[in-house]
Amino acid sequence: MSNDAIVLLKDDHQQIRKVFKDFQAAGDNAEKRKGQLVDKMIELLTQHTYIENEVMYPRVRELLPELEDDVLESYEEHHVADVLVVELSSMKPSDERFDAKTTILIENVTHHMDEEEQDWFPKVREGLGRKTLQEIGEAMLEAKKTAPKRPSQPSALKKTIDAVIF
Ligand SMILES: [Fe+2]
Ligand SMILES: [Fe+2]
Repeated sequence: MSNDAIVLLKDDHQQIRKVFKDFQAAGDNAEKRKGQLVDKMIELLTQHTYIENEVMYPRVRELLPELEDDVLESYEEHHVADVLVVELSSMKPSDERFDAKTTILIENVTHHMDEEEQDWFPKVREGLGRKTLQEIGEAMLEAKKTAPKRPSQPSALKKTIDAVIF
């Protein structure tokens, strides 16, 4: 398995996109299945956002200051997703707004991942090179071991509070 930071993040994106597609294909009445898929989304997004927020973004910001605006925009996009994730994590699939909120989460996160993949990752790859990306990849794999899986876990709680209050 590659330990290149961008390859790892793209793998995550692919898994997330797969769950999004399954949700969209689930149909109107598949409440139980949609509940499970949203649980999976919450888990994947909480972990992925965590390793980007804690490792990838700060490292890139430090090493490539010219990409600072992109990083700040990404933090804001994560913030919007965090709010939706926190709200969804306390909802039931039978709630009136469950599908609509999930749809907006999918739209927002898809836009964000597209932007990372098409615009941001190429700039980062060019700026950092292979060796540094491997070092960052290693650090992300390490961080993933203890990354929170739900927004209510202590290590995600600060983020959750920030998302709702600020
Ligand atoms: Fe991101
Ligand atoms: Fe990402």
